[in-house]
Amino acid sequence: MENEHGRQRSCLVVGASGAIGSAVVRRLARKETTMGLHCFKNPGSVASLCRDLGIDANRGHIFQADLGSEKACSGLVAECRQALGSLDLLAICHGDVGWKGWRDLEWADWETIFRQHCLAAYTLATHALPSMIAAGFGRIVYLSSIAPKYAGSSRSIHYAAAKGALEIAMRGLAREVARTGVRINGVRAGFVMTPQQRTGRTEEEQEERIAKIPLGRAGKTNEIAAAFEYLMSDDADFITGEIITVAGGD
Ligand SMILES: NC(=O)c1ccc[n+]([C@@H]2O[C@H](COP(=O)([O-])OP(=O)(O)OC[C@H]3O[C@@H](n4cnc5c(N)ncnc54)[C@H](OP(=O)(O)O)[C@@H]3O)[C@@H](O)[C@H]2O)c1
Repeated sequence: MENEHGRQRSCLVVGASGAIGSAVVRRLARKETTMGLHCFKNPGSVASLCRDLGIDANRGHIFQADLGSEKACSGLVAECRQALGSLDLLAICHGDVGWKGWRDLEWADWETIFRQHCLAAYTLATHALPSMIAAGFGRIVYLSSIAPKYAGSSRSIHYAAAKGALEIAMRGLAREVARTGVRINGVRAGFVMTPQQRTGRTEEEQEERIAKIPLGRAGKTNEIAAAFEYLMSDDADFITGEIITVAGGD
């Protein structure tokens, strides 16, 4: 994948150490993109992903950051742009659910989850935008969830609210910059069996959740990543401010 100047496109995958984020990396790496790979606590898993995919230090740069503050978000984009020389594609795939029932949810829990999902994604995007606008090209794709549709489960009301706010913020931003060559879209993932789901639900709850999916199974990380790859591609040039739901009919 090359940009209009004939050079490789450069990409930052936020949450590249995660189950869905690493599937996005696998997809984008096939396109010869130079990559910034973000993680929080697990740089080792990104390093081993790079080894697996044959991404050497010239092509892949690993960044570690807790994205709970504006400084961390702006710093990540700046560091990545400096290391790669440009930033054409931004995939935002990080974040935790922070499972807690309403009786235990405190102000600080709400704040953590809103910072991590809504504020971080919006801030990453706004810091990536100036150079994308100057280049007349950019693709930003973020990960949302079908959680807002159900207002979350009994232990994820705050998470569902944060993802709902995220969708509105990113859609608004997409419309603001629609005439600059930058496209901003989301992928609304359904239930995918990742560590986040395994730790947050009992086996019985996982089975109950899957039984509610019209297609009768959990999604696969690669199926979510496929939507990212499409929205990043030139084929999606006429799409902005949209959200593609990949949720087995849920
Ligand atoms: N799994 C599902 O069913 C599902 C459905 C819909 C939406 N999603 C969304 O998909 C995204 C990834 O989920 P996943 O299932 O792939 O989970 P995962 O495997 O647990 O990955 C979570 C990722 O977020 C990073 N992260 C966690 N806390 C962070 C923080 N404070 N600052 C920066 N990065 C942080 C982790 O980094 P380290 O590992 O390096 O610490 C990891 O890369 C989340 O936004 C989630 O809400 C998941």
